[in-house]
Amino acid sequence: MSLIFCFLVVFPLILAVEGQAGEVLITGNKTILSENGTFKMGFFSANGGPNWYLGIWYASLPTPTYVWVANRETPVKSVESATVELGGDGRLKIMEVGGSVVWQTTNVEKSTAVKLLESGNLVLLSRKEKVVWQSFDFPADTWLPGMNMTAHRSITCWKSSVDPSPGSYSLRLKPPDYGEFELVFNGTMMYWSTGNWTGDRFAGVPEMTIPYIYKFRFLHPFTPAAAFWYTATALENSGGGGRPPLNRFHVDSSGLLRQYTWFPQTDTWNMFWSQPENRCRVYGLCGNLGLCNTVTLKPCECLAGFQPSDELSWSSGDFSGGCLREDNNVCSETDGGFEGIGSVSFNGAALVPIPGNSKSCEASCLMNCSCIGLYRNARSNLCYNVYGPVLNLKNLSSDSTEEGELHVRVHRRGNGKKNKWKWPVLIACVAGFSIILGLSMAVLLVFRKRRQRKKKVEEEDVFSVTNLRVFSYKELNAATQGFSEKLGHGGFGTVFKGELSDSSQVAVKRLERPGGGEKEFRAEVCTIGNIQHVNLVRLRGFCSENSHRLLVYDCMQNGPLSVYLRRDGENLSWDVRFRVAIGTARGIAYLHEECRDCIIHCDIKPENILLDSDFIPKVSDFGLAKLMGRDFSRVLATMRGTWGYVAPEWISGVAITAKADVYSYGMTLLELIGGRRNVETPPSAGGGGAAATGDEWFFPPWAARQIIEGNVAAVVDERLRDSYNTAEAERVGLVAVWCIQDEEAARPTMGMVVKMLEGIVEVAVPPPPKLLQALVSGESFHGVLAESGGTSTGDANSHSSHRW
Ligand SMILES: *[C@@H]1O[C@H](CO)[C@@H](O)[C@H](O)[C@H]1NC(C)=O
Ligand SMILES: *[C@@H]1O[C@H](CO)[C@@H](O)[C@H](O)[C@H]1NC(C)=O
Ligand SMILES: *[C@@H]1O[C@H](CO)[C@@H](O)[C@H](O)[C@H]1NC(C)=O
Ligand SMILES: *[C@@H]1O[C@H](CO)[C@@H](O)[C@H](O)[C@H]1NC(C)=O
Ligand SMILES: *[C@@H]1O[C@H](CO)[C@@H](O)[C@H](O)[C@H]1NC(C)=O
Ligand SMILES: *[C@@H]1O[C@H](CO)[C@@H](O)[C@H](O)[C@H]1NC(C)=O
Ligand SMILES: *[C@@H]1O[C@H](CO)[C@@H](O)[C@H](O)[C@H]1NC(C)=O
Repeated sequence: MSLIFCFLVVFPLILAVEGQAGEVLITGNKTILSENGTFKMGFFSANGGPNWYLGIWYASLPTPTYVWVANRETPVKSVESATVELGGDGRLKIMEVGGSVVWQTTNVEKSTAVKLLESGNLVLLSRKEKVVWQSFDFPADTWLPGMNMTAHRSITCWKSSVDPSPGSYSLRLKPPDYGEFELVFNGTMMYWSTGNWTGDRFAGVPEMTIPYIYKFRFLHPFTPAAAFWYTATALENSGGGGRPPLNRFHVDSSGLLRQYTWFPQTDTWNMFWSQPENRCRVYGLCGNLGLCNTVTLKPCECLAGFQPSDELSWSSGDFSGGCLREDNNVCSETDGGFEGIGSVSFNGAALVPIPGNSKSCEASCLMNCSCIGLYRNARSNLCYNVYGPVLNLKNLSSDSTEEGELHVRVHRRGNGKKNKWKWPVLIACVAGFSIILGLSMAVLLVFRKRRQRKKKVEEEDVFSVTNLRVFSYKELNAATQGFSEKLGHGGFGTVFKGELSDSSQVAVKRLERPGGGEKEFRAEVCTIGNIQHVNLVRLRGFCSENSHRLLVYDCMQNGPLSVYLRRDGENLSWDVRFRVAIGTARGIAYLHEECRDCIIHCDIKPENILLDSDFIPKVSDFGLAKLMGRDFSRVLATMRGTWGYVAPEWISGVAITAKADVYSYGMTLLELIGGRRNVETPPSAGGGGAAATGDEWFFPPWAARQIIEGNVAAVVDERLRDSYNTAEAERVGLVAVWCIQDEEAARPTMGMVVKMLEGIVEVAVPPPPKLLQALVSGESFHGVLAESGGTSTGDANSHSSHRW
């Protein structure tokens, strides 16, 4: 969230790291740097607003990220006249003109020196160098490595992305046991928790078993003396000269707890972990009468007939103000009626049961202006009057077990009074709209002319570097017959079958949500177009018109490998499978090692391995991860949902290397020789013996064990029976297990994989991949997931919340 601020630039004027009593440490523009320049302290103004705050942020990042704010609730109006100084009483103070104290530290013992540490901790030292006060004891919305979370401390979000004052959501150790963390609304309502500490992790956070950039320490758990902190370590092979990447935990204004590391390669924060996964679990997110959904980009909307109580904050992503009736004047007994909004769940409201029939229920609601509506339960035949606030409103229409319905109070429809003013308004609207439309068209035309001129030049550039063809949207629309024949749908977009005017078959990929602008798109497409290899799908051309971004590939006759990994799919012979294994490895090895710019594919899986008319495998979709921007939440979902192909380091907070592709390739190999998917619902007769996770079967841990024990025959697709080469199968099996090793360093490079498969290099027996096993067995992971989808907030606070 802090990435989107607009800032008034605060010019650094480096000052001594230490300050002495009585000395003015900071005025106006001046800042203090930590010893090695990681953090900086000074005045800042979020969003260029009139309010100034004393804060600490990362000194070197292009987008300031504030990790601490001193005067969250008492901003300074004018930075020119504000100073930070160490008072005669040994407290650090923010002073305004006339000597009024805006904010000060609370130390009892007198301090004589001020120091900003490399950790981001601001400390006050006594004459004997003892710390008498530190900012780490008074955290804002960020939890930094080394910061100690204790029973009396919590991390509280900013009110909004431009207002550092305390918002509604906090992270804290859960009282009274202090054995787990919880996210709470307004200091009371828990909406997510980590589960109890089990000695090395929290029960509800299985990711903590992954080799992580973090080391966690929990002193005295389950006692009021509990203290929890973490330190970041540099993982081996993660670069950065043995220093951990910049990293932080953050509670954002929409109540989500997130972990970030800084990726210097892309100059962005990499968000690799976020809870709760379902944003609608965040208590009160959409405010009174706001309906929360998990589908659209914007989580909240008002019910029909209602509008945001504060349009401005609503549009800036702060929904807590909730919704109001569009027409505020409903409190009239003669005029009132009710409108059913279907089966919903909600919290926070008071329900008053009304005896008698539904008429008396309606009448009693209409008599009281603060009555929001009715809640009717068809099964029990009870009717309640609903008094606000109605929080956490969620649509349950898909859930057939719900039988209650909410009816909100509205004006009676078809009331003549209401329509009187409608016509003039309508006419005015239409007229206004036409004018705006006319103007926008004119502006658009001018822009287009200019763009077209520019485009011509760029197109010639493209031609000079690659053999890529630039297609017009019209052309592709015709080639695909209006995008009618869908070949598949992947993470980056939908693929359609097409035929060009020279009657060659193509696959046209229509990209969704492309990140970056046209220029970046063209540059990236050029890179992809330059990569050619017999085991990579060839990019023939592209189209980039207005918001359309399409890629045109050679069409592969025999479709994706995934089609053959079903029991009812065509059986591939061992020869074909072995060829696919080697060919795919060669294609990826080329991407990793032989292209001018090494490309990490990031999405190796059977769906992205296509087979041509001779069953030669061709890897598709390379280069797209960069083109589309890596969407970590998508990766997270994939990882948690299927444990499919995603290497554990994806969620460990380190930068991804080519070894992530090796992992995915290993998972794909297991599916290839097994002739099955790695995650399957069990067959009715429980053969196979794979590890069961809830009602799903997870093949890889079991397969890996068989292969290590020399029993590859048990893993090979039973349809192949004796018609396969045992020596080759053994090799492929061992290579697969090497590829899915926990440690990146233990996995071979793709070049090495090719040599191993070819038999040029001897393949030893690998150790078992432990992580895979631990994540699947151990705590029931699926159980945890199921639990987190539930309504524990509602249940835990049943006195004031209701769910039917
Ligand atoms: C802040 O720095 C700028 C540029 O150096 C300068 O023009 C401005 O006067 C400074 N303001 C204060 C309050 O020092
Ligand atoms: C600052 O950098 C120097 C040189 O790299 C290093 O020796 C020193 O330990 C660093 N200080 C801190 C507090 O990190
Ligand atoms: C955290 O606080 C506990 C209890 O106050 C203390 O024992 C521990 O040393 C502290 N740890 C750090 C890293 O400050
Ligand atoms: C938050 O808590 C305070 C007191 O603890 C209460 O007065 C206030 O109404 C609460 N706000 C909401 C939105 O529940
Ligand atoms: C967590 O630990 C506390 C204190 O030991 C215990 O009362 C509680 O039941 C535990 N919760 C779970 C879910 O096991
Ligand atoms: C709830 O979802 C159903 C089905 O998707 C839809 O018909 C209904 O209008 C929704 N209700 C509200 C209040 O949005
Ligand atoms: C309306 O209902 C509220 C909540 O039940 C109650 O406190 C209030 O007295 C009622 N007002 C009238 C006029 O009945």
